[in-house]
Amino acid sequence: MAAERVAAVAELVENQATRVVVNGVPIALVKDSAGDIHAIGDTCTHGEISLSEGFVEDETLECWAHGSQFSLVTGKPLNLPAYEPVPVFAVEIIDGDVFIDSSVTKEIN
Ligand code: FES
Repeated sequence: MAAERVAAVAELVENQATRVVVNGVPIALVKDSAGDIHAIGDTCTHGEISLSEGFVEDETLECWAHGSQFSLVTGKPLNLPAYEPVPVFAVEIIDGDVFIDSSVTKEIN
């Protein structure tokens, strides 16, 4: 599957998640305070909640429903009640635009 343009880097608000859908896959896109851009699965693994409606803090995205914080780097929840990770997608920046291929997830150990 080809990577899809999802946003311009300039239109992303720092420390705020944006929901994008790539080839039917919902993804939470976040520009952190260091300017790094992260893309993780948007659906909380504890419930059917959109993580992009939650809160960004440091390198985590917190689910508003019950407070699990997911690492933007590894996709792993750092606290209960969620215990399954969300996928982390590779992000490519080309000429100021953000591209994501929803079929390409990062290998996280
Ligand atoms: S639905 Fe996300 S922590 Fe419960």
